[in-house]
Amino acid sequence: MTGSRRYYDAEAADYDESRGGRARARAAAAAVVELVPPGGTLLDVAGGTGIVSSELSDLGWSVLVLDGSHGMLRVAADRLPGRQLQAVADRMPVRDGSVDVVTVVWLLHLLDVPTADRVLAEAARVLRPGGHLVTTVDKSLAHGRVPKRPSDNRERVDLVARRLGLGLVGGTSFSGRSDWGSATSGDPVFPVVGYRKLSTAGPIGPVGKATA
Ligand SMILES: C[S@@+](CC[C@H](N)C(=O)[O-])C[C@H]1O[C@@H](n2cnc3c(N)ncnc32)[C@H](O)[C@@H]1O
Repeated sequence: MTGSRRYYDAEAADYDESRGGRARARAAAAAVVELVPPGGTLLDVAGGTGIVSSELSDLGWSVLVLDGSHGMLRVAADRLPGRQLQAVADRMPVRDGSVDVVTVVWLLHLLDVPTADRVLAEAARVLRPGGHLVTTVDKSLAHGRVPKRPSDNRERVDLVARRLGLGLVGGTSFSGRSDWGSATSGDPVFPVVGYRKLSTAGPIGPVGKATA
C-alpha cells in the first residue's frame, strides 16, 4: 500500500473533518451496534485516525486500531493510547481465532479485488467461531459514482464471505455529511453488512433491528 500510505500520511491532519467528523463516526459506530452483539475484543481494520474506533470503544468494546499509515495512527494514538497496530490489512499480525468483532469501514473500495479478498480471508482467520465481521460495501455508489472495480460490491462480498465460512447476519447503513468524493449534493448513505463466522452451533439471523 505504498502510494496509499503516503496519501493517508499526508491526509491525516485533515481527514476527520473532511470525512464527516464526529457525526459520521458516531453514525458508523451505531451501524455496527445494529449488527453485532455488544462487548468483547474488536479489531478496527484500516481504522485510520481512530475516529470510528473511539466511538466503538466508548460503546464498550476493547478496540485495537490496525492501519498501514503511520500518520493516521498518530492521530489514533491520541484517542486510544497504546491501541494501535501498524500493518497491512491483507497480512495482519493477529492470532487465529482471537477476536470477537472485525470492522472494516471504508477500506475495500480502495483495494484491487485480490487484495480485498485477502483482507476478507484475514478477517475470517482472526475471528473466533461465532465472531462477527462488519464491513462497508458499495461506497462509490453511495457517492453517486460508478465504481472503478468491484472490490466492495455487496453481492461479490457476500459470495466471498460465504466461501470463507462467514454467514450473512444482515445489512444496515449510515449517512453523514461527507462532501469528499461525492458526485451528488445530498447526504450519501453508506451500506454496511454484517457476517458471523460459522461454528457448529447457532442459527444465522439478524441481531437488533438489522435488515437483510
Ligand atoms: C478512507 S480511510 C478509512 C479510515 C477509517 N476506517 C474511517 O472510517 O475513518 C482508509 C484507511 O485505510 C488505510 N489503508 C488503505 N489500504 C490499507 C492496507 N492495505 N492495509 C492497511 N490499511 C490500509 C488507510 O491508511 C486509511 O487510514
